[in-house]
Amino acid sequence: MDEETRLIHAGAVDSLRAKTVSPPVQRGSTVLLPNAKALYDGTLGYGRAGLSAQFALMDALAELEGATAAQLYPSGLAAVTAAIMAVLKAGDHLLVVDTVYQPVRYFCDRVLSRFGVAVQYYDARLDAAGVLALATPATRAILLESPGSLSFEMQDMAALAAAARARGILTIADNTWGAGLLVKPLAQGVDISVQALTKYVCGHSDVFLGSVATADPATGALIKASVADHGWSVAPDDAYQALRGLRTLSTRLARHGETGLTVARWLADQPEVLTVLHPALPGAPGHALWTRDYSGTCGLFGVVLQPGSPARVEALLDALEIFGLGFSWGGFESLAISCDPQLTSRTVAVDYGGPLMRLHIGLEAPADLIADLRRALDAYSA
Ligand SMILES: Cc1ncc(COP(=O)(O)O)c(C=O)c1O
Repeated sequence: MDEETRLIHAGAVDSLRAKTVSPPVQRGSTVLLPNAKALYDGTLGYGRAGLSAQFALMDALAELEGATAAQLYPSGLAAVTAAIMAVLKAGDHLLVVDTVYQPVRYFCDRVLSRFGVAVQYYDARLDAAGVLALATPATRAILLESPGSLSFEMQDMAALAAAARARGILTIADNTWGAGLLVKPLAQGVDISVQALTKYVCGHSDVFLGSVATADPATGALIKASVADHGWSVAPDDAYQALRGLRTLSTRLARHGETGLTVARWLADQPEVLTVLHPALPGAPGHALWTRDYSGTCGLFGVVLQPGSPARVEALLDALEIFGLGFSWGGFESLAISCDPQLTSRTVAVDYGGPLMRLHIGLEAPADLIADLRRALDAYSA
């Protein structure tokens, strides 16, 4: 054969040469099939559906979530919107918690509306009966997030799931705060558990990935078909990073949670702080539900400051030296954002009593984080 041809085929892998602890990262769009029959017999025939690393991650996530199957998406937002699209059709009605991650609201308002799905936002403080009272004969699903984005309202997932199921309504939970480890929505009766793996599972602020898991085979079939129909696909290297993150998830979460509580307790005693919105903090809103349902906490919570101007909040954030200013969370580093500019898009206006900040507590030493926050609170009161 000519060298040009040999260059194309030299070094082709026929089988794995050695078994490693982690799966090989197979990069491939084309999958070579063993014979002509296999082209059409349902054998995995194309790399878009995933290869070794993606399948290993899907299996691991299914186990973590207590699911029969988990699917992957190129971001957490894509996972939420894909879960919705998999189970809804024109004419359906969707109830969405008002504290939902803000870009999901944009999807509901801009995209679902174009496809004839009606959306109603409900107050995160409503109990299950209150939420179900908003359901119509067309309500097909309830999208909940507990604790809620930015303001950390806890929802009784088990009660909501049971009440919804009794009416033939599906529940979809954004389980990113629990990271698949701290709470088990599917065991609570929720039909679909969604995660932004971008946060704690990947854990290093450098990968976008999402997952959708369910324990119900019929719902699982809908979700799987929808992945194929929409052409969702994730890169093997990203799946590998998520799988690697899973191996240390429980250790990292324990540290995030412990330092987070240390910082939260300290903040609660500071004169510039009105309230700390941390479900794992005794006395905080939602603490009873957290105690009942959660095995631990992560490092993400809210802080309500004593009333002060937006300029003072900016002075506080600008005084931080260790905390970065940035959206997202779940990485090894501490982050802070102001929340009030995002709250204006909510349907229910809640007065938290002062400016709301969100902190993500990373893996730094607690004393250094506290010193950083003390400097920042001085700037707030200056
Ligand atoms: C609760 C929640 N769900 C979903 C997402 C979306 O994840 P991604 O950034 O991977 O799209 C985020 C991102 O901040 C989030 O906070």
